[in-house]
Amino acid sequence: MSGDLRIGGIRRGDSVEFTFEGERIVAQKGETIAMALWAHGQRVLRNSSRDGGPRAVLCNMGVCYECLVRIDGAVVRACMTEVENGMSVLRGGKP
Ligand code: FES
Repeated sequence: MSGDLRIGGIRRGDSVEFTFEGERIVAQKGETIAMALWAHGQRVLRNSSRDGGPRAVLCNMGVCYECLVRIDGAVVRACMTEVENGMSVLRGGKP
């Protein structure tokens, strides 16, 4: 699934562009990586190191670590990290 799933008719902040696995994503300033990707239909943020199964946002408040992604080699929680212009985000991370 792709496209913008945000609710229409709401005044939003400035646009921010970043990539996820090489795909260009347009978000709004102040959004987290997790919610910007959610709005574009990207649910799988990493794969389990145990069985390879898909992992996505679970708590959306920084507790579960299911949303780990990589930015410039650093592993971060997508639900706690705001989007920035030009950032390159990759799936990844443990646990
Ligand atoms: S979704 Fe739980 S830490 Fe990000």
